[in-house]
Amino acid sequence: KKVVLAYSGGLDSSTIVKWLQVELGAEVVTFTADLGQGEELGPAREKALMLGVKPEHVFIEDIREEFVRDYVFPMFRANTVYEGQYLLGTSIARPLIAKKQIEIAHKTGADAVAHGATGKGNDQVRFELSYAALDPDIRVVAPWREWDFKSREALLDFAEKHQIPITKDKRGEAPFSVDANLLHSSSEGKVLEDPAVEPPEFVHMRTISPEAAPDKPTVITIDFEKGDPVAIDGQKLSPAALLTKLNQLGHDNGVGRLDLVENRFVGMKSRGVYETPGGTILLHAHRGMESITLDRGAMHLKDELMPKYASLIYNGFWFAPEREMLQAAIDLSQEMVSGQVRVKLYKGNVTVIGRTSPYSLYDQELVTFEEGAVAYDHRDAAGFIRLNALRLRVKANRDKRGAA
Ligand code: ARG
Ligand code: SIN
Repeated sequence: KKVVLAYSGGLDSSTIVKWLQVELGAEVVTFTADLGQGEELGPAREKALMLGVKPEHVFIEDIREEFVRDYVFPMFRANTVYEGQYLLGTSIARPLIAKKQIEIAHKTGADAVAHGATGKGNDQVRFELSYAALDPDIRVVAPWREWDFKSREALLDFAEKHQIPITKDKRGEAPFSVDANLLHSSSEGKVLEDPAVEPPEFVHMRTISPEAAPDKPTVITIDFEKGDPVAIDGQKLSPAALLTKLNQLGHDNGVGRLDLVENRFVGMKSRGVYETPGGTILLHAHRGMESITLDRGAMHLKDELMPKYASLIYNGFWFAPEREMLQAAIDLSQEMVSGQVRVKLYKGNVTVIGRTSPYSLYDQELVTFEEGAVAYDHRDAAGFIRLNALRLRVKANRDKRGAA
């Protein structure tokens, strides 16, 4: 039995390696992804080797560019937010990790994959729906649902027995659970579990607070091509480099903090603190770009489809046919979403202050209150309103009769 584990190098996932080896008698292959979580990956290799994973079974890959280009940017073309606010930073990374695990399973002849998500959350669903879509025959091991440690203490004892280093503060409870990548950091649990209580400042890791941000605004320009950002202040950047730069700008101006109670797919509400500095700038800038380049019908249809698209990603259906159908429609809408947006960052706020495009639909001649525009005759508006008002008049008359 050979199993490919999504391995972070942390205590929990090191314990999982041992458990798979000892309790399941499995040969473990580890996959550690650099998704821009801002952690050294060298130690993950050493720890895996120390746990007895064969050198040829330790996989470490920098997938930041693929993550931003093929997952984050396509999602942002739709202005995607879940339940009005969540920018889906964790949700969008899971399908890519799953895809890499399946690729490695095929390369190494493994018959199973494993992840470290708990049995109570969304992530287990996202990993396992992705596995199923990419390899219908792969077996799945979900240690958190399968092992019988009765407590965190029992788990730590098992780790200690197998010489997995446990730092002092790990014996006491970790203060909260974190998931991070280039798009966001997410914190949940422990000190955050009471939704009535404001998150302590130390929870935040990639933004300064709006209160501490400079009293002077920062103005930047972002260039878009077919719906994707390609340059900042005229400097062309790769997808990952561009998002990294936006993250820095967002960080410095206290942009992108969110304290949210959301509905998990498995049925419970949970409270999370998110920081999505670059993504928050991108969302506003992209809408600014669309505001002059998208036709009203196309824009409104996109806005109607978006919540459905967001739920598909949140619930783990990235590789489902209906997500791909929506993506095709969204991508088609972006053909002319090119040009430049000017954005002001100030104490947590992102304000679009200028937009230009060679494909602009904005017609100053048409909209001006001054004399002009042969294409628009004021007198046409009278009939337009009269016909739209017709059914309202009919109903108002009926209601008047009913009241008499
Ligand atoms: N609630 C977020 C989601 O479902 C984040 C989950 C992972 N975050 C964490 N801190 N463990 O997408
Ligand atoms: C987990 O349960 O592993 C993290 C939270 C979630 O997946 O929703």
